[in-house]
Amino acid sequence: MVNRRMSKVFGVITMASLCVLALPGNASSKPMDPTDATKPLKEVFKGKFLIGTTLDFHELLGRAPEDTAFAQKHFNAFTCGNSMKPDFTQPQEGRFTFEQGDKMVELAAQCGAVPIGHTLVWHSQTPAWFFAGKQGQPLDRETALSRMRTHIATVVGHFKGKVKQWDVVNEAISDAPNEYLRPSPWQKAIGDDFIAEAFRAAHAADPAALLTYNDYNIEMGYKRGKTLRLLKSLLDQKVPIHAVGIQAHWRLGSVNLPEIEKAIQDFSGLGLRVMFTELDLGVLPTRYQGADVSHQESLTLEQRAAIDPYKAGLPDDVAKKQAEAYRQIFDLFMKYRSKIERVTFWGSYDAESWLNNFPIRGRTDYPLLFNRQRKPKPAYFAVVEAASETHKGE
Ligand code: XIL
Repeated sequence: MVNRRMSKVFGVITMASLCVLALPGNASSKPMDPTDATKPLKEVFKGKFLIGTTLDFHELLGRAPEDTAFAQKHFNAFTCGNSMKPDFTQPQEGRFTFEQGDKMVELAAQCGAVPIGHTLVWHSQTPAWFFAGKQGQPLDRETALSRMRTHIATVVGHFKGKVKQWDVVNEAISDAPNEYLRPSPWQKAIGDDFIAEAFRAAHAADPAALLTYNDYNIEMGYKRGKTLRLLKSLLDQKVPIHAVGIQAHWRLGSVNLPEIEKAIQDFSGLGLRVMFTELDLGVLPTRYQGADVSHQESLTLEQRAAIDPYKAGLPDDVAKKQAEAYRQIFDLFMKYRSKIERVTFWGSYDAESWLNNFPIRGRTDYPLLFNRQRKPKPAYFAVVEAASETHKGE
């Protein structure tokens, strides 16, 4: 069988193994060059929208000061790559841990970046205890609601006034053609209103926070209609929701600009702010669109060589194509900058990207603006160019 598919629920992976996964395996150990004159991205996009990145274990545990300094130099919004997900913040019922989230907030304060909370309610990276029914029974609505509300109240309450934006619910829309919401444990136990209830709880815990619904591929036709249905229904019920986050895990060769533009128009037309929350542009072959973390592939060595073609380096022509795609994406972002609150990259430079391990472990991908030595790639210069052009019309 070619390409055996392995289903893996990240919620059951231990934190220790995630720590190893998230370390930049082939990162440069070179310190940052103090004479590096590359213009910080946050200056490039000043007055346009926030430009963000992730901080992950290596930064939050103080193991990679150069990576931290690099993130602080270029970005003005920080999201924890993993450390504020439910498996971190409440690994066991009632045992909350905020150390790494607190560290992210502290590192953000040092450079004036906006700390972003990711994420409160998700089917993945959520410990099994959340979804266990009492005495072996299926999880009932009241227990699920109470666990969800306690989690949100405690986590948002802890970061109240510090974390300014929350991804309240992550990935609730189904990928299946005839299905509206993903049949996640939250949806099954509570019903479709788990989303409204999550937003209400987050707003109660911090009325000043900007609350976002976050998902992948919701710009695409097959999910945009369902997303609009969800957002409209929340707004009709006067649920406190302020923004929609398009994850933007895109791939070179299949970026659909018209769909992205339509999504910006449709979502902002509802009066919501638009965010691009997890931007990357992978260049490796994959059979999966978007970022469904329940899929991981395991392959033989031969198969692996075929699907990991740029181990020795990114060919110039691919780097150029990637730069052109990034330029077009940022042209569009610039055109709609009055609607766009934030654009966050999922990692600061290529070695940090989760795509080196997803959907297949241990490949060499090149999805970001900076290379493995943290030097600007052609994509960086293309994005800078896009930012300097004057665009008219919305
Ligand atoms: C990813 C992390 O980057 C990885 O380190 C982890 O192993 C899996 O999750 N959508 C999301 C993010 O909302 O939280 C995911 O982050 C990427 C897909």
